Amino acid sequence: MKLLDIKDVFFTYPDGDSVRTILDHVNVTFEKGNLYAIVGSSGSGKTTFLTLIAGLDTAQEGSITFKGKDIAEIGLWEYRRNHVGMVFQSYNLIPYMTGLENVLVAMGISGKKHMKDSAYELLDSIGIEKNKANRNVRRLSGGEQQRIAIARAMANQPDIIVADEPTGNLDGETEDTIIGLFRKLASEQDKCVIVVTHSEKVAKQANVILRLHATKGTFVIEDNR
Ligand SMILES: Nc1ncnc2c1ncn2[C@@H]1O[C@H](COP(=O)(O)OP(=O)(O)O)[C@@H](O)[C@H]1O
Ligand SMILES: [Mg+2]
Repeated sequence: MKLLDIKDVFFTYPDGDSVRTILDHVNVTFEKGNLYAIVGSSGSGKTTFLTLIAGLDTAQEGSITFKGKDIAEIGLWEYRRNHVGMVFQSYNLIPYMTGLENVLVAMGISGKKHMKDSAYELLDSIGIEKNKANRNVRRLSGGEQQRIAIARAMANQPDIIVADEPTGNLDGETEDTIIGLFRKLASEQDKCVIVVTHSEKVAKQANVILRLHATKGTFVIEDNR
């Protein structure tokens, strides 16, 4: 079964007295164990598309099904809480907390011992050792902050991880490490990882490249496995 099935999704934004079509009947499916790159020029609708996949907004037409069930039927809030982790370009961590605390907040608990242990373990698996996990996130590098954001996205053990330009603020070398982490989450932990990027270098590392064409939501699928 397909993990995510996007069928005939049609999405418009209001534009003065009329509407502007962003996604024009998009059809695409996503499976576990793959890293997908969505590329397209600025303003082509990448973030909009990711927002729909993440259940943060609803399309005017079409359906998004998760494991055969419409996400509207699952309930967008339930769907997001149980199945989706999000990573952003500017990390969006809580700045007055440590990395550990950021992950604990996402786990939705107050820091009981065994939860702390699993948060440390999760951070360690993403390359953040205990001493860095205990540091205020403002005192970490961009790459380290993004690792914590990835750990946070993993906190509820989602099947899907969506990332909007996750390496947009990072240097080339750090970008490679972060994309390497996403690849590993897909191949070793069977996650479905969907990364929006305008970098061809990033896109090349994905299993599947989806190209979004401006003003017309047509995807051209390039399967480079
Ligand atoms: N809330 C909104 N209301 C109206 N237009 C929007 C809104 N959000 C985005 N847009 C427009 O929709 C188009 C696609 O935006 P977006 O999905 O952010 O593109 P991308 O992420 O590919 O740069 C852009 O032209 C943008 O200006
Ligand atoms: Mg965008």
